[in-house]
Order: sequence, then structure tokens, then C-alpha cells
Amino acid sequence: MSEHKEEDETLDEVEVSSFKEVWHQVAGHKDHGSTPGFLMGPNGRLYKNISHDARGEKEECFYKKVFSDEKFTRFRDFIPTYYKTILYQNVRFMALSDACYGFKVPCGSDIKVGSVDYNSQDSSTKQEVHKKKVLGIAPILGFRFAGANVYNATDKTVQKLDKGWGLSFTVENAAKKTEEYFNDKKTIRRDVLPSLIRQLTDLLEYYTQQKLFWLCRSSLLVVYDGLTPEKGTVKMIDFAHNTTQENPSDNTYVEIGLRNLIDILSHIHRGQTAEWKYDT
Ligand SMILES: Nc1ncnc2c1ncn2[C@@H]1O[C@H](COP(=O)(O)OP(=O)(O)O)[C@@H](O)[C@H]1O
Ligand SMILES: [Mg+2]
Repeated sequence: MSEHKEEDETLDEVEVSSFKEVWHQVAGHKDHGSTPGFLMGPNGRLYKNISHDARGEKEECFYKKVFSDEKFTRFRDFIPTYYKTILYQNVRFMALSDACYGFKVPCGSDIKVGSVDYNSQDSSTKQEVHKKKVLGIAPILGFRFAGANVYNATDKTVQKLDKGWGLSFTVENAAKKTEEYFNDKKTIRRDVLPSLIRQLTDLLEYYTQQKLFWLCRSSLLVVYDGLTPEKGTVKMIDFAHNTTQENPSDNTYVEIGLRNLIDILSHIHRGQTAEWKYDT
């Protein structure tokens, strides 16, 4: 556990007493040993545990830079808001905005973008381990679902599409599989797609023209409302591995992933899932 920093704030009792488990979490760490990975606070705040190892601190550095350096102003729209770092039971947590706040039934998906699960700053052993872990279709499509929650409007439950589901994507079935995430058993939720496609297109446009940083092992957090028509949001999350080095090997695959995802969502929106073909 890392030492707490001078500037960390301790929380008052009211805020602490309202902490809840994050019931809408899709993927990632539920806990780090005996401490929770995430906590949900009042007023749409989510607290991410960053005390576990160096990755937490790297992610905190990234958020602090983005929210203090004006060069990143535009990028702030595409990620959760970073408020501050707090100390809770001697564990450091980043206070972030909860992308699912205000959703009646948040149907979230954690979509890893890029082709590789390592970056060239990792040791070569680590790179080998991660290469072996890259299963499924991520190197070709440039994205992979780590998990998703989807509302079943027939029995009014939320169902989990797990990592295994994400790894079952192929070049042939990728559009059909992605459509499962928008299928609430009564209808395909095409109504939420225009807004999601627009947000992803804005992100792609921003990302391809900027030279400030490169994403590595980050995820898109896509959320739509299982009950409210046309309500959806897209945020980029998980910045423990971002790099500002030159010539990052994975970068073009982040763009490929975004383009393929946008293309697939557009096909689902037009009811043309069967016609979608991987464009080599
Ligand atoms: N700002 C946020 N708003 C809503 N949900 C979030 C937010 N950040 C993370 N999550 C949830 O937690 C999961 C894991 O987040 P992530 O930052 O990738 O953690 P890890 O470092 O453990 O992989 C995501 O899939 C998402 O469900
Ligand atoms: Mg993650």
C-alpha cells in the first residue's frame, strides 16, 4: 500500500456512511485483497482504489495532468471527471464522476481498444505473458468486450455478458455478437445508437488529430439506459498504462478498433447486421 500524500483529503462521516458497493460494475478489479476496488458515493461520485500498486499512481498522474493542463481541455469531455484523491480507511481512492449516474437501468460495457495488452515499456517477459493473454479477435478488430450488462425487458432482470462472451467474437460474427448487447429480448435498442455513434466519432476525431498521449490498455465505457429511450454515454477509462513515448506500436489499432466499432454500430442501427463485413 502506498503512503498517503500530504494533499489527500479525508472524508467526513456523512460521505463515508453513504458508501455503497458499485452494483453496475462491468469488468476490472472488484477488490484488491481485502479492500474494495471501487466504492460508490453520493452525488454521482465513484471512488477508484489506487493504493494497490504503481498502476494506481500512474493512473492518478494521468488524471491530474488532464485536469490541470489546459492542453487537455477538450479530452476532459471524453473521460470521467477527476475531482480529488481521498483517504478512506488508510486507502487512497480517486474521486471520479460515475458515468452511470442518472441512468435508471445502466447497461454498461467495458470495451478494450487496441491490439495488444502490453506496451513497449513493459519488460519483455511481461510482453510475452500479455501476448499469450490476448485471445480472440482483438488484434484484428482492434476492440474486445471485457464484459457487458444488458437489460432483459421480458423478465425485467439485468444479465451479464461475461469475458467468455467477449472472447467468442470472430471476424464473421462480430456484428451479430455486438448486437446481443443491444438486444433486450423485446427489441434491438437502435434508438440509443445515434448518440453513441456520434460520441464515438467525436472521440475518434479528437484522438487521431492529437499528439499529446497514446492510449494503451484503456477501455471504452459505453452505457445506455435499459429503460430510457435514446439515453447513452461513452467515456474512455482505465489509464494505468498510457504512454507519451514516441511511436507507440499499438496506436493505429486504437483507431482501427474505434472505426470498426463505429462501423458495426452503424450497421446495427440500419438493421444490416448480416451485411457487415470486416474491411481489411
Ligand atoms: N467513472 C466510472 N463510471 C462508471 N463506472 C466506472 C467508472 N470507472 C470504472 N467503472 C466501472 O468499473 C469497471 C472497471 O474500471 P477500470 O477503471 O477499468 O478498473 P481496473 O483498473 O480494475 O480495470 C468498468 O468496467 C466500469 O464498469
Ligand atoms: Mg479495466
